[in-house]
Amino acid sequence: MKQKIEVASSRPYSIFLGTTLEELGAYLEEKVGRSQHLLIVTHPQVGEYYLERLLKGLSAFRCDVLVVPPGEEEKSLERLSALTSEAVAYGADRHSVVLALGGGVIGDLAGFFASVFMRGIRFVQIPTTLLAQVDSSIGGKTAVNHPAGKNLLGAFYPPLVVWTDFSTLQTLPWEEVQNGLAETIKHAVIADPELFSFLQSHQPEILAWTPEIYKELTVRSLQVKVKLVMEDEKEKGQRMLLNLGHSFGHALETEAAYQEISHGQGVSIGMIAATYLAEARGLINPEEVKSILNLVKGLGLPVSIQGKDPEVLLRLMEADKKNQDGQKVLILPEKIGHALVVRDARDEEILRAWEKVITE
Ligand SMILES: NC(=O)c1ccc[n+]([C@@H]2O[C@H](COP(=O)([O-])OP(=O)(O)OC[C@H]3O[C@@H](n4cnc5c(N)ncnc54)[C@H](O)[C@@H]3O)[C@@H](O)[C@H]2O)c1
Repeated sequence: MKQKIEVASSRPYSIFLGTTLEELGAYLEEKVGRSQHLLIVTHPQVGEYYLERLLKGLSAFRCDVLVVPPGEEEKSLERLSALTSEAVAYGADRHSVVLALGGGVIGDLAGFFASVFMRGIRFVQIPTTLLAQVDSSIGGKTAVNHPAGKNLLGAFYPPLVVWTDFSTLQTLPWEEVQNGLAETIKHAVIADPELFSFLQSHQPEILAWTPEIYKELTVRSLQVKVKLVMEDEKEKGQRMLLNLGHSFGHALETEAAYQEISHGQGVSIGMIAATYLAEARGLINPEEVKSILNLVKGLGLPVSIQGKDPEVLLRLMEADKKNQDGQKVLILPEKIGHALVVRDARDEEILRAWEKVITE
């Protein structure tokens, strides 16, 4: 099944679904012309699995490969600087095109690199994790982290195209699948009750992770993101809902220096903390809270974390990009399929929510 979704934005682009890595070359020949210089940014393991297949279709291009070690800590200014040196050494110029072959780390880093290298060169997203396919490759957000906070340095920089080959999900370790599932549950909670029911009723198949299930799940989940980013490209309104769980989650990731907790685990615990806060405010009914908890747990994601200091996490939430005039801005679920932007959450409420997800 091949599908093409057009994303309307300041620079419109297409998302191709179910296409193969080998086919990208022919598409690029038409889109950017032959004889362009391509800079392929990838991780060692991803390159080992998929570079040969990708390069098969790219014989008309001069290709150089920039290999980045895996890990969230690579979304850094140091790595950005190293990529710049390598690109210059390879003779990259304003006409070069960056290909981001990997998950969200590669997409965010290579995308941000493309946005600033020589004031901006074109880039292509080739997402190979579930998280990247349903979420990070779509919407044009690119960034690197800073010790003061996650994704603090970045740009809205839409790709030329998003090229999704579902077969790459076959080699994805289960823990990485779970990171994508956290964003998928988030999509369901904020905007798609049918997706929520689908996830509830297909838990055994999801846990078995067959090609039929991941194709369907991916297409349904990414449509939530596409709709929200088309309504609000620069995150002035509705797109903010996609941050459900992220204010809490980013604080957990920053506190752990991106080492002991993955992005998906942070989002998962963060979504539960936000749900408890919503329940304490009487926004969401206890039955729905239970359904969210059960789904998150049922898909093997964490709903709590051990031994953290709520006060430290509260302080780390001060660096959240959504905050305005010193006031924390949170996304809270109101019911399954609907969430709200809340601008008046008090620190005491946030601390109570942290306490509910922190165990001794
Ligand atoms: N830009 C956005 O809108 C947006 C949205 C959500 C998340 N993000 C960012 O995405 C990042 C997380 O992305 P992620 O979860 O994809 O993690 P990741 O990019 O770190 O990838 C996880 C691991 O999987 C490996 N991998 C990738 N594809 C593989 C494959 N097909 N087979 C086997 N191994 C594979 C990678 O080498 C890596 O070790 C975070 O930095 C987060 O901030 C960005």
